[in-house]
Amino acid sequence: MSITPIGGRPFDGSGRKITTATLRELKLHHEPITCLTAYDYASARLVDEAGIDMVLVGDSLAQTMLGYENTLSVTVDEMLHHVKAVHRGVRNALLIADMPYGSYQVDPKDAITNATRFVKEGGAEVVKIEGGEKRADLIRHIIDAEIPVAGHIGLTPQSVNVMCGYKVQGKNLSGIEQLMRDAVALDRAGVACLYLEGIPREVAAMITAEVGTPTIGIGAGPECDGQVLVFHDIVNLTFGPPAKFVRRYGDAAAVITQSVQAFRADVRSHQYPSDEESYHLPKDTKAALDTVMERKRALRR
Ligand code: KIV
Repeated sequence: MSITPIGGRPFDGSGRKITTATLRELKLHHEPITCLTAYDYASARLVDEAGIDMVLVGDSLAQTMLGYENTLSVTVDEMLHHVKAVHRGVRNALLIADMPYGSYQVDPKDAITNATRFVKEGGAEVVKIEGGEKRADLIRHIIDAEIPVAGHIGLTPQSVNVMCGYKVQGKNLSGIEQLMRDAVALDRAGVACLYLEGIPREVAAMITAEVGTPTIGIGAGPECDGQVLVFHDIVNLTFGPPAKFVRRYGDAAAVITQSVQAFRADVRSHQYPSDEESYHLPKDTKAALDTVMERKRALRR
């Protein structure tokens, strides 16, 4: 009997396939979990081959890839288009897909149908849902449909209009209490991991110590079980000032701009393409063509 791979590109035995069980093991052994977003085949391959544990097709693609103002407009079909591409690029990492705004808030049945699409059509292994204790029952239903769910609490971008902006959450005692209740409720509901976004370090540390599920922080300090950042943020492809928690590891914008400008300059100065970069006729065809052209020229004389 062969071992059937779980995940996108065929599992070739190199590296190890990360599953939701792996995340628990990593938490147990205090080994930091790594997660990055990816939205297309190329970035998915690069992230996966660099050994990142989890690839998140975040609804942040609304801004980074599609140029929307916030995450509210992106649809299930738009998300699926990207999830499928990422799935084709991922071999070892756990593939998580964000359920976009409107795909799970309206009707639990629709939520399960939409979650199922991410698994069946997109190849996602986990779906992510924003919101705390009010989502616990829904999360149980989705897990009952055999779909692992990641929770996401704190600064939840789909609630931007309710939060009146992107604001750090849990800065006062009632906020902290609510976040603790949210975390515990989602842990009890059985989430595969819990994303903590935009909350004070001290609160993220308390949640991480309290829950069995691995916490993955973004703007939530170093005590989380893992960290996630947006791919475009770490390589400077976001066209704006980065948030406080973003660390830039590279400047893809500079590399791309230089490359594009150099191409333009080469074309305009006839430096591109060179003879080496051109295709040539086979020798006998060239000789035959020369003969034909010579005859035509002779006739014209
Ligand atoms: O959409 C996204 O990129 C996310 C992460 C910031 C956690 O949800």
